[in-house]
Amino acid sequence: MNIRVTSTAPNNNYSIKIKSGLLSEFGQIIKKNSNGSVVLLTNKTVYKLWYKDLHDSFKRAGLKEKIIIIPDGERYKNNRIYNQIISEMLNNGINRYSTLVTFGGGVIGDLGGLVAATYMRGIKLIHIPTSLIAQVDSSIGGKVAIDHPLAKNIIGAFYNPRLVLTDPNILGTLAEREYINGLFEIVKIALVRDKKFYEYISNNIDAILNRKTKAIEYLVKISTKLKAEIIQKDPFEKKLRMILNFGHTFGHALETSGQYNNISHGVAVGWGMLLALQLSHQYKLLDLDKHQDKIDLIKKLIGKYKLDNISPKDIWKTMTLDKKAKNNKIRFVLLREIAQPIIKEINKNSFIKALENL
Ligand SMILES: NC(=O)c1ccc[n+]([C@@H]2O[C@H](COP(=O)([O-])OP(=O)(O)OC[C@H]3O[C@@H](n4cnc5c(N)ncnc54)[C@H](O)[C@@H]3O)[C@@H](O)[C@H]2O)c1
Ligand SMILES: [Zn+2]
Repeated sequence: MNIRVTSTAPNNNYSIKIKSGLLSEFGQIIKKNSNGSVVLLTNKTVYKLWYKDLHDSFKRAGLKEKIIIIPDGERYKNNRIYNQIISEMLNNGINRYSTLVTFGGGVIGDLGGLVAATYMRGIKLIHIPTSLIAQVDSSIGGKVAIDHPLAKNIIGAFYNPRLVLTDPNILGTLAEREYINGLFEIVKIALVRDKKFYEYISNNIDAILNRKTKAIEYLVKISTKLKAEIIQKDPFEKKLRMILNFGHTFGHALETSGQYNNISHGVAVGWGMLLALQLSHQYKLLDLDKHQDKIDLIKKLIGKYKLDNISPKDIWKTMTLDKKAKNNKIRFVLLREIAQPIIKEINKNSFIKALENL
């Protein structure tokens, strides 16, 4: 599959190539798409698992790469590591004709993307996403960023890559928790955008959970296509792109509020989607009695992670701080039907009532 992305920021088009086994061709493709030197950014985990294969592909293409390896984890998506990468690039003679290739999950993509956007005012960027979140979400749409101690993803830019190279086979080594994290984003995009795709997920959930190759490849292709369509229409998140926040308003608050430090992003979004469905029902937008299957599917993915001892007032407060509430109301993405999202301002009482009915 080859998805062309047009008219997005800053006005350069790019391709997302998706194919199982594409890794063996990465060297050749990157060689064709870069003229200067190539620097590869990865983390220790992905390096150990997949670098040899990538390096072999580069070697076959006659491509020599510089490599920068950083530790694994969200906590390294910061300005200290950003500076460290810049120093290594300077020491290695990386110049404005060079290409930065990110090889990793969303952390590497976001951080490497910001480096590419800013190093010498911008150098060529190619993403090789290796986690499910990175393949279906973070590598598409040009958002790049690092975290600040006071806020996540707060230092960032919109910076498109030249190319995204996606090989679903690379997901074979991904931990269960990370795989499930990605599935929530896939369910999210299906619910806000494509009823048939949702039905596919629902009908094939066992094959998906058993990580059948064909199912994964299909999920990656369709989710990518859907996200690419959205970001082309609204590259700077003026309107349409906001629907991608479905489940994220409440989800972020769960992640932020100290008590839930252990909750993964996907599970938090899972609870966020359940809450959004409940609110949609409450506002008579959607009759939940007819949509029990959606709740069952999300709960199946959530598994054992329950929302015990949650303080609605604290969570509301976290949301108002995070989302800068207007007139003490918070914007939620709700559904009128599957694939018919709307944005609605919700007050505290409605929120608490929905939470009680979860
Ligand atoms: N830019 C965007 O639009 C966007 C969208 C969603 C998320 N994000 C960002 O992405 C990050 C989350 O992404 P993530 O979930 O990929 O996190 P991550 O990069 O931390 O990857 C998750 C874990 O999986 C490991 N991993 C990656 N590929 C692997 C593989 N093939 N085999 C084995 N292990 C592998 C990583 O080393 C890490 O331990 C967050 O920082 C988030 O803010 C950005
Ligand atoms: Zn998300």
